[in-house]
Amino acid sequence: MSSFPQTRLRRLRRTPALRAAFAETRLHPAALVLPVFVKAGIERPEPVGSMPGVSQHPVDGVVEVARRAVDLGLGGLLLFGIPAAKDASGSGGWDPDGPVPAAVRAVRDAVGDELVVWADVCQCEYTDHGHCGPLDDRGQVGNDAAVAGYVRDALAYADAGVDLVAPSGMMDGQVAAIRAGLDDGGHEAVGIVAYAAKFASAFYGPFREAAESAMVGGDRASHQLDPGNRREARRELALDALEGADALMVKPALPYLDVLAAARDASDLPLAAYHVSGEYAMVQAAAERGWLDGPRAMRESVVSIRRAGADLVLTYAALYLAAEVAG
Ligand code: PBG
Repeated sequence: MSSFPQTRLRRLRRTPALRAAFAETRLHPAALVLPVFVKAGIERPEPVGSMPGVSQHPVDGVVEVARRAVDLGLGGLLLFGIPAAKDASGSGGWDPDGPVPAAVRAVRDAVGDELVVWADVCQCEYTDHGHCGPLDDRGQVGNDAAVAGYVRDALAYADAGVDLVAPSGMMDGQVAAIRAGLDDGGHEAVGIVAYAAKFASAFYGPFREAAESAMVGGDRASHQLDPGNRREARRELALDALEGADALMVKPALPYLDVLAAARDASDLPLAAYHVSGEYAMVQAAAERGWLDGPRAMRESVVSIRRAGADLVLTYAALYLAAEVAG
């Protein structure tokens, strides 16, 4: 062991080539997954006001996004659907002709297995009250009724050809029920990425505009995690692993890097982290005002999420960052 002046850490930082050679964390396009909003009944992409660079896409339009994703070597697309009509039970979620199954079939026709296709499984885009499942007589989401809906959703997406379903509703027992439903339905090859540690976060604000899933009243505190609870997050992660999740997710990402790092230590399952709409929007908003360098801040955010332990990062900046890596 020596110290200064024999040891000079700046030696390995002197040139771009040295810094590249000794970089500990690299952004590879295959580690990035792009969330995509697919909306029934629109003709062309509709920009999401609170998320510059993000649009709702018509079903056919997702094919174009998929082709770009394949060209750039992206790790996948995560689909969210906005249906033509909503009801109290969210039945549009399992409609085989709904926007997500239709988009999955179109993408498969166009690019085959060249792209990993994920579908988010939750009812908040499909219920007329914006909650994650049907409400019970106390006005809270009924756990088991919601889970029954998620199983039907997952089957519809699996029938359409997804590789992965990602249940995000934070209902107890949802992963085990979906696993059993998929297996009974002959979809033992479809994987589950569990939104295991998902916090009741203010950072989902812009998503609710993009997915048209704003709640009519109430909040998601009866099922999503309290932002201060790390031990409880570890229990959620452990339970979802026991229930048969193929990979685990922490969400949001930047405010919860400690949870992500703890998950990395505690589990050998692949880990994903969701760099959510609010994390993306605040960088874009500050960049628009000239208050920070948007591309650099976006890159630094995603590199930090990888450094903390995520194998995969779900980010609205995926195409942009992958194109940057490709040069
Ligand atoms: C559905 C769902 C949400 C997000 C992903 N899946 C919204 C929520 O829980 O309210 C948020 C994603 C984002 O903010 O980018 N339950």
